[in-house]
Amino acid sequence: MNGLIPQATSSLERLAIQSRLARGAVALYYKGLVAAEAALARVQPEDNVLCIGGGPLPLTAILLHKRTGASVTVIDNDNQSVALGKGLLESLGYGAQIRFLPGDGRAFPLDEFTVIHVAAQVQPMDAVVQNVKAHSARGTRILVRLPKQQLAALYGRFEPLALSGFVDQVRHRWRNTGRTLLLVGSGESLP
Ligand SMILES: C[S@@+](CC[C@H](N)C(=O)[O-])C[C@H]1O[C@@H](n2cnc3c(N)ncnc32)[C@H](O)[C@@H]1O
Repeated sequence: MNGLIPQATSSLERLAIQSRLARGAVALYYKGLVAAEAALARVQPEDNVLCIGGGPLPLTAILLHKRTGASVTVIDNDNQSVALGKGLLESLGYGAQIRFLPGDGRAFPLDEFTVIHVAAQVQPMDAVVQNVKAHSARGTRILVRLPKQQLAALYGRFEPLALSGFVDQVRHRWRNTGRTLLLVGSGESLP
């Protein structure tokens, strides 16, 4: 994994899954973020959500599900994160509502999802967003979480080419995360 912040986030999450108190502290960070993103994409209980980059502590997936009632699938391209994240979901009783699968955002089947969330630490961001825009069903709401401009270098290589054409955004204050963009899937993979 490239980038100082993605590495640090994974290490922090590995530590945090061991303690309920630590998980609660990290959840405080994500709560407002996820609430703003759920509102931006108008996520409803009928939606089928994919979270790309769940990590060992898949709080975006958990909070999105808790807030909206939508069913959620999480993927991660790191096998250890999949094992830890899946184990945590099961131990917290979310095993039936939130699936955690191995997968890479550059090549995961996307047709069934109505909302796709891309974590800020996902790499390479440009390739993942291009894939999601092109191969999700037409009209899919795509949320792309981005670091603050001054921290972007610490997240690794980042080319914002695929991010042009976003339809709306929400800015976040007091966090590493600068804003979340809302893009819409073009449905190019459909016949
Ligand atoms: C540490 S997590 C942070 C996300 C946070 N736990 C959340 O709930 O939003 C970011 C994860 O993204 C995964 N990742 C990075 N690039 C990816 C890609 N191209 N496809 C799938 N997962 C990816 C990393 O393996 C890492 O576990």
